[in-house]
Amino acid sequence: MKKSVTIHGLKFMLLVSSGKIQDAVSRIAKKIDRDFKDRNPLFIAVLNGSFLFAADLLRKIKIECGISFIKVSSYSGTRSSGKVNTLIGVNENLLKRPVIILEDIVDSGNTLEAVLAEIKKHNPDEISVATLFFKPEVYQKKNALNYIGIKVPDKFLVGYGLDYDGSGRNLSDIYALES
Ligand code: IMP
Ligand code: MG
Repeated sequence: MKKSVTIHGLKFMLLVSSGKIQDAVSRIAKKIDRDFKDRNPLFIAVLNGSFLFAADLLRKIKIECGISFIKVSSYSGTRSSGKVNTLIGVNENLLKRPVIILEDIVDSGNTLEAVLAEIKKHNPDEISVATLFFKPEVYQKKNALNYIGIKVPDKFLVGYGLDYDGSGRNLSDIYALES
């Protein structure tokens, strides 16, 4: 794997290898298999960033489950207005069904809060959250994160679904902007 990548003129240094990512995904899958046995949970992956996490996690999950996708934007212009814009909503019947939200990364927590609000409207049995990456230093919300893959420093990351200005999602490893 490369030690650094340059995207749109910015240099990013290797932070988390694909091996470490896959280990974290396996750990989360094992816990979910244990916690949701015989409960047929519905995973709801938050687009776009979580598409690789969702694909890798689902292949490691052994229990019966379903998957769907949601796309929301919680930002209006450059400010986090608290206004939730649902671009792709929930189509499944969630009544009496446990839902597990799949996030690529939780930063301030604004996006997750918007996703939780949208999903709650559909009255699921319960909602859990699994995030592959988490920036604890900048998290500003109280919503519980039930499954956390890897805690990362407050740096801008690219790779494994995360983009910088539309690029870098295809990288297998995670790279951090030099600061
Ligand atoms: P939050 O709303 O501040 O928690 O940010 C959540 C969303 O912002 C994530 O789902 C990502 O799509 C994006 N994001 C947060 N941190 C990063 C990063 O370091 N690189 C790329 N995208 C990020
Ligand atoms: Mg995201």
